[in-house]
Amino acid sequence: MKIILLGAPGAGKGTQAQIISEKLSLPIIGTGNLIRAALKDGSEMGQLLKSFMDAGKLVPDEVVVKMVAERLQANDCKSGYILDGFPRTLAQAKAFEEMGGEIDIVLDFDIADEVIAGRLSGRRICANCGATYHMEHHKPNTEGKCDLCGGELIRRKDDEPATIAARFEVYHAETAPLKGYYANTGKLVVINAHGSVEDTTAQVLKLLEAK
Ligand code: AP5
Repeated sequence: MKIILLGAPGAGKGTQAQIISEKLSLPIIGTGNLIRAALKDGSEMGQLLKSFMDAGKLVPDEVVVKMVAERLQANDCKSGYILDGFPRTLAQAKAFEEMGGEIDIVLDFDIADEVIAGRLSGRRICANCGATYHMEHHKPNTEGKCDLCGGELIRRKDDEPATIAARFEVYHAETAPLKGYYANTGKLVVINAHGSVEDTTAQVLKLLEAK
């Protein structure tokens, strides 16, 4: 199964990607995580990407497209994958098709901006493996430590209020048009992402099982 998770920053894509990945044994290609991993080498390119992310802007299409194209070559992607946060512009969607990328279903996480702001301000991520938590809705077993690898939980720099506003603006201008694009292919399905993590997972699994 080849799945795209589409939706605003903080809509719950990463959380559901983790759950679906475990249930269906599919790898996650999360461009946010791929970019964050690329920053760790301290290179000039890494610094440049960090400046885009920290400002809430998209990193250039060609950089992300290259990362995804390389990741798709791995053996674990042969029978399916979950694309989390890619494509995020029409140019990326077209580049994905040109590289032979295939998709069975696009899940659009529909949620109001006001609800998301609370989710992002309480979010913490593992500095080591990138797993996601929330201070109220998804607490780790031990405060400040990742359940999966024991890494330290930190706040993402782009989860500061001013940067959240910039990310919403970019989402509505650059990414939301992809809904129309995928609706025209007949692959778009809208998920109501306002409920609990469990509610959202139930909707997602029902749709995937019907595929
Ligand atoms: P990325 O890391 O992809 O961030 P995003 O798309 O902004 O999405 P988020 O990770 O913020 O949110 P999410 O929907 O995954 O929500 P989550 O599950 O964490 O990208 C970061 C940056 O990288 C971009 O701004 C850009 O600079 C760059 N980038 C990435 N991809 C790119 C691309 N393709 N092109 C160009 N640039 C790119 O949930 C949020 C919080 O809510 C968590 O704390 C979670 O525990 C909690 N939560 C989740 N679900 C629920 C629920 N149902 N109820 C209550 N709480 C919930």
